[in-house]
Amino acid sequence: MSRPAEAELIKAAIAASEMAYIPYSNYRVGAALLTLDGDVFTGCNVESASYTPTICAERTALVKAISEGKREFSAVAVVTRDGGSPCGVCRQLLYEFSPSMIVVMADLEGAVHQRATLADLLPFGFGPANLQD
Ligand code: THU
Repeated sequence: MSRPAEAELIKAAIAASEMAYIPYSNYRVGAALLTLDGDVFTGCNVESASYTPTICAERTALVKAISEGKREFSAVAVVTRDGGSPCGVCRQLLYEFSPSMIVVMADLEGAVHQRATLADLLPFGFGPANLQD
């Protein structure tokens, strides 16, 4: 991905983070997922008073994309106040679709902290291939 395309994706993730519903953690997260054919789906984290139903920004973006018929992704930008990396549950669900996607971790000012492939973030990952007969 070119640097200008990466900057655009980060910008979309920052805009999405502004919609975060975070009354319990106050930890704002935004994600922007780039499909192989160039569409962008965004998401924010949405928390619950009973905690467990909380959904991360990455999975919000992913379920939006899947439910709109997109299943192949080239990159995801995730923004947080500290440039944090996606949680294990999100890594697993993203791995289901595109293990080779680039994961860009940036902060809310747009500075990139890390870049990695999803397979780097989830080594020896369990995926659809494991369930083939
Ligand atoms: N969170 C995300 O949205 N993505 C991650 O990958 C890590 C955690 C959210 C969940 C919760 O709303 C808050 O951050 C604190 O865990």
